[in-house]
Amino acid sequence: MKPEILLIEAMMPEIEAKLESEYQVHRYDAAQDQAAFAASVAPNIRAIVTGGGRGASNALIDALPELEIIAINGVGTDAVDLEHARSPSVPVTTTPGLLTDDVADMGVTLLLTAFRQVCTGYRFVREGRWAHNEHLPLARKITGKRLGILGMGRIGRAIAKRATSFEMSVAYHDIRAFDDIPYRYVPELMELARQSDALIVAASGGPQSRGLVNADVLEALGPDGILVNVARGSIVDEPALVAALISGGLGAAGLDVFMDEPKVPHELLKLDNVVLQPHCASATLETRRAMGELVLANLAAQLAGKDPLTAVV
Ligand code: 8YV
Repeated sequence: MKPEILLIEAMMPEIEAKLESEYQVHRYDAAQDQAAFAASVAPNIRAIVTGGGRGASNALIDALPELEIIAINGVGTDAVDLEHARSPSVPVTTTPGLLTDDVADMGVTLLLTAFRQVCTGYRFVREGRWAHNEHLPLARKITGKRLGILGMGRIGRAIAKRATSFEMSVAYHDIRAFDDIPYRYVPELMELARQSDALIVAASGGPQSRGLVNADVLEALGPDGILVNVARGSIVDEPALVAALISGGLGAAGLDVFMDEPKVPHELLKLDNVVLQPHCASATLETRRAMGELVLANLAAQLAGKDPLTAVV
């Protein structure tokens, strides 16, 4: 009999096919009534497979008496209570390193798109306004601008590396300074915002970063400032962001993540100074394939009685 697993979030088809060939996969992601579905399959579930943003609730973990592993297809652990998982001793695994480049690429893409008003230009052409000799407002130059990065982990560093190729000056804020990188540390986030033309959020989610980018930080970034978020919606005070974008207190934003995904504040849908993506920074074939293979390897190891490869607890 194949081991039974609970799939909380869809994965790419070729990885799902491999999961199906090794395991009996219960599709929580597709269930109408997820709580009832989980209860109906709970007794035999040995593994949860989930996404970084989705995670797994304590109630769900507690409902699975045979649970042996929570395999996250991502690097964020903020949607799983690690202490709680530790107490019944359920290892939690992630896919470290594999998505760094893609997420950094998306951060820089959103930055360039916001600076150069790529979406505005795209709509301008599609709506026939160019053909009618209308004028597209001038965009802003990126070369030489000041970039602030919130969170100097793997992703923050990969963004910094890319930004220097645009001759941007890079400074950062984190819980501490790092002595192995050449970028300037700014101990106060508000000060970093004040000193930056654009701020990219690349920090981990969770209680320690919740609401860090608040109305004051957005005001410090200012009417010409650009905010990019490729980390977690919870790090930014979303109502304050919406208000700042509407009032012109903040220049523009490029957002891949939101507070209550997949819900996006309806005001943002109408704004021209916002670029929106559906939490897809790591969503390339190559990266999702590598992440999926690591999820499979972690499951295989744990369910064969060995240590998983990339456990965080
Ligand atoms: C993924 C993420 O999109 O790594 C994370 O924590 O949020 C993203 O890279 C996600 O894990 C897949 O849902």
